[in-house]
Amino acid sequence: MTTDIPKESLQLRSLIKSSGELELSLVSIAVPEPAPHEVLVRLLAAPINPSDIGLLFGAADMSTATSSGSAARPVVSAKVPDKAMKSMAARLDISMPVGNEGAGVVIAAGSSAPAQALLGKTVAVLGGAMYSQHRCVAAEQCMALPAGTTPAQGASAFVNPLTALGMVETMRREGHSALVHTAAASNLGQMLNRVCIEDEIKLVNIVRKEEQAALLRGIGAKYVCNASAPEFVAQLTDALAETGATIAFDAIGGGTLVGQILNCMEQAINRSAKEYSRYGSNTHKQVYIYGGLDLAPTTLTRSFGMAWGIGGWLVFPFTQKIGPAATQALKERIAAGLTTTFASHYAQEISLSQALQLDALAAYGKRATGEKALINPNKGL
Ligand SMILES: NC(=O)c1ccc[n+]([C@@H]2O[C@H](COP(=O)([O-])OP(=O)(O)OC[C@H]3O[C@@H](n4cnc5c(N)ncnc54)[C@H](OP(=O)(O)O)[C@@H]3O)[C@@H](O)[C@H]2O)c1
Repeated sequence: MTTDIPKESLQLRSLIKSSGELELSLVSIAVPEPAPHEVLVRLLAAPINPSDIGLLFGAADMSTATSSGSAARPVVSAKVPDKAMKSMAARLDISMPVGNEGAGVVIAAGSSAPAQALLGKTVAVLGGAMYSQHRCVAAEQCMALPAGTTPAQGASAFVNPLTALGMVETMRREGHSALVHTAAASNLGQMLNRVCIEDEIKLVNIVRKEEQAALLRGIGAKYVCNASAPEFVAQLTDALAETGATIAFDAIGGGTLVGQILNCMEQAINRSAKEYSRYGSNTHKQVYIYGGLDLAPTTLTRSFGMAWGIGGWLVFPFTQKIGPAATQALKERIAAGLTTTFASHYAQEISLSQALQLDALAAYGKRATGEKALINPNKGL
């Protein structure tokens, strides 16, 4: 099956120049021929996740973004503030492809049996550079989608689903029995709610707007606390006392929320304490910061004793830690629930060139609830 394969195809690139300017553009690249263990995928859907936005925009100030080029080949430029250039040192003047994951159809395959088995199949792919019309990847980076699943339904099959399941798995492995989650109305947060309902795990959701609280209650969430409400601390402490949650996953990072969660956990635990200890409770309280939605410093006001930990958490080091067999079991659960438990929602499906229009950039760049965009790299203008 080597017909209809173009010699060249488009790929979205993000470049930060040492002159202090971000440039987003579409470049033409040669379509490679798959090696024996590889397949060539014609990509039809790829989400713009918050982590992709991090790579796409870098430290640029997107309020300075301007557009040039043509409708088919737009070029977006934006200034990177001088003080942020140091953090960009490792990527200066390197034109970087973007897009962690996506889905499409295998249009050519190498000679190996695993590659040949995928020929003609609709697959989800993990492997970077997914904002490309074609990608050559190892067959093992693909997940064949169940019959009838569209590329849009399979586009977010890895990052968020594995993270939601990874949180639950981490909770169990570290000896906790209930969870706290922040920015909880995100696509990932909604997935986590469905997983916890299925697995009968108590989940305390923290959001920052009343409409997000209503959204989560609408899908069956029992514990939802609004961090902007005056009664937040009391509400959260009650929910923690009722659920016994002693582990939290925080997508925000900056500000005072991490410390507030630990303080509320300590208060909730102390409600049933038999005696006073000057060192605080001896129940270990853990927060994992797994996102950077707010890059401000993380500020702790410590009234939570000495039995606590804060760490970073990333999904792929986690899957490496649990090993291939346990990871495969998670992937099988995801494949079976792709259009239900692990479904994602997108505000719009856009082409590669539309992804570089300033109004589209402003919309998905907000990373707001319900605003995620899906790129279809093979969609016309
Ligand atoms: N560590 C890992 O391995 C890993 C893996 C997957 C995902 N993640 C992280 O998981 C998070 C959710 O991803 P997603 O794809 O589900 O996102 P999404 O659907 O785009 O939702 C983003 C959510 O973040 C909220 N938000 C944005 N900025 C915020 C801020 N400054 N403070 C509080 N809330 C804010 C939004 O709420 P509003 O409507 O209030 O703005 C929205 O509900 C992201 O941070 C992502 O980077 C991490």
